[in-house]
Amino acid sequence: MAEKLLEIKNLKQYFNVGTKNEVRAVDDITFDIYKGETLGIVGESGCGKSTTGRTIIRLYDATGGEVIYDGVDVHAKKSKKELKAFNRKMQMIFQDPYASLNPRMKVLDIIAEGLDIHGLVKNTKERTARVHELLETVGLNREHANRYPHEFSGGQRQRLGIARALAVEPEFIIADEPISALDVSIQAQVVNLLKELQEERGLTYLFIAHDLSMVKYISDRIGVMHFGKLVEIGPAATIYTAPLHPYTQSLLSAIPLPDPAYERSRVRISYDPTSHKYLQDEEVIMREVTPGHFVLCSQREFETFAK
Ligand SMILES: Nc1ncnc2c1ncn2[C@@H]1O[C@H](COP(=O)(O)OP(=O)(O)O)[C@@H](O)[C@H]1O
Ligand SMILES: [Mg+2]
Repeated sequence: MAEKLLEIKNLKQYFNVGTKNEVRAVDDITFDIYKGETLGIVGESGCGKSTTGRTIIRLYDATGGEVIYDGVDVHAKKSKKELKAFNRKMQMIFQDPYASLNPRMKVLDIIAEGLDIHGLVKNTKERTARVHELLETVGLNREHANRYPHEFSGGQRQRLGIARALAVEPEFIIADEPISALDVSIQAQVVNLLKELQEERGLTYLFIAHDLSMVKYISDRIGVMHFGKLVEIGPAATIYTAPLHPYTQSLLSAIPLPDPAYERSRVRISYDPTSHKYLQDEEVIMREVTPGHFVLCSQREFETFAK
């Protein structure tokens, strides 16, 4: 069995909007992330994917629950030194790299920021050399170090975002819709780069996407979110070929395929949360249908799944 890098237990992130309204962006979710794997998280816009990532990485204090990283409780009180060490291990890549790259800073300084904060280089020469190396690692070149973010295309900017994340030699990277804003022709290049880096460096990824089409290529396992809940999680192939939760089935039915025969017969399934009629009196929890394949369901639904 693969080793766990992260254990997310009953994680909750509620936001207070105004005085009374509470948004349950992440509503009691539990899952593990194994060392060296890519866990894809999918679900439509607003279901809580980014909040999950941000809470795991501690950009937000959790409303409840635990995040255990390599045996250490992420949200427990920590010294400055512990926090810094921890921040180095986890990095995030964003959907819109442009918004997260300071337009007034040269690429050299943007990428070197983490090196400076964590004292990873001894002098300017080493700092520049390290940045050049990182640029080459992500398929750019050293001349790019003296340019500004606006001089790059979307795909190149995402490469800069990746170089910046890699600078501190993290173990775990949360990629929050890293390809959603890119042209389709560029998406595969960025995905391939992430895959190569993972193989070379043994990185662990949490890869967030709003549909299932790309995560299929990158994920070992896939988790599906709906309104702050994790409704299904399992091996990527199982989620694709034998989805059990009706919401997962509806997400899958939304993926177009470049096959005219399939397209003619494709039936778009829509998910109706009230279709779980008999659930009112029953406990709806994550149940393991086959090893490693969990579905949020009642006991009665579970019995129909197991058939
Ligand atoms: N900082 C915040 N304050 C209040 N509500 C928020 C905040 N961040 C996210 N939300 C709300 O939480 C829900 C989940 O948002 P988000 O995690 O961004 O979803 P996703 O990434 O899946 O699109 C949404 O209803 C969103 O409006
Ligand atoms: Mg998001």
